[in-house]
Amino acid sequence: MGSTPVSTVAGRASIDRCLLDLDRLDPEHIRQILQGAAAHFESPGARHETLRGRTIANLFFEDSTRTRVSFTIAAHRLGADVVDLSSKGSSVTKGETIADTARTVEAMGVDGIVVRHHAAGAADVVAGAVQCAVINAGDGRHAHPTQGLLDALVIAREFNRIADFDLRGLKVGIVGDLAHSRVARSDIGALTKLGASVVCIGPPGLAPQALKTLGCEVTHDFDAALPSLDAVQMLRVQLERGARVGSTREYASQFQMNERRMRLMKRGGVILHPGPMNRGVEITSEVADGKQSRIFLQVRAGVAVRMSCLELLMSSR
Ligand code: NCD
Repeated sequence: MGSTPVSTVAGRASIDRCLLDLDRLDPEHIRQILQGAAAHFESPGARHETLRGRTIANLFFEDSTRTRVSFTIAAHRLGADVVDLSSKGSSVTKGETIADTARTVEAMGVDGIVVRHHAAGAADVVAGAVQCAVINAGDGRHAHPTQGLLDALVIAREFNRIADFDLRGLKVGIVGDLAHSRVARSDIGALTKLGASVVCIGPPGLAPQALKTLGCEVTHDFDAALPSLDAVQMLRVQLERGARVGSTREYASQFQMNERRMRLMKRGGVILHPGPMNRGVEITSEVADGKQSRIFLQVRAGVAVRMSCLELLMSSR
């Protein structure tokens, strides 16, 4: 739906109008975004004029702390204006479709729309309804491309791979509720396209064997997997999306990242979490606040990645 998200200009691949998921990008596009992001990461707080005079609308139909604020800060650092719209307090509560909401916002002269929605495919619907740039900030269980990109940036930096973003030889575990996680799907997309090995770890109901079709391994034995892992991304159990675990205590005994498990990882291994964290469930506070945690670096990388995406999608339009 909508125009093709990528195109080739003068023989060089470039990102076109929309970033809807990472499946539609090839490794070269991912590297292009990450190269821009790595530059922004090293100069946090720097102000640019790249998008001066442009307006970006945040259409967030689902709760968010870091993603929404991160897109807003990224847009401001590029000189753009930002308007915020959420379902509460908008005409969505009166039955307006998201396509009509998006067209309405575009008719007011918006140049880019960032959309988050509880339904998979919502960002595609918006992209098909408007002519302006569209970035998916998370649609149901489907995709969260900027999260996948920022996690790849953090891992690449950690293991000195930012010169070429070649992650071959690294192994990343994604642990917990993969079944309901758009973050997991986008992480797998970004990491495998850059050459990393990915292993999905969780109970059978939350880490189904079907994930293998995405090009990763699947295991239900966290302790056995840990010695081969360079990085571990811990996921929240997404109860609001229908995830079920028997008891929290039983779940934590098998799949919580704690200090004992951290010591089982490869030397120099790091811990990631996209947030929001449920401390004491999938991760202990000792680990979340410990030396191997890169959780707040992920947040910082998020601004850099979103700046790079906004620039690539909007600066030439
Ligand atoms: C995630 C999301 O909303 O998809 N958070 C985020 O964007 N950083 C993960 C989650 O909700 O658990």
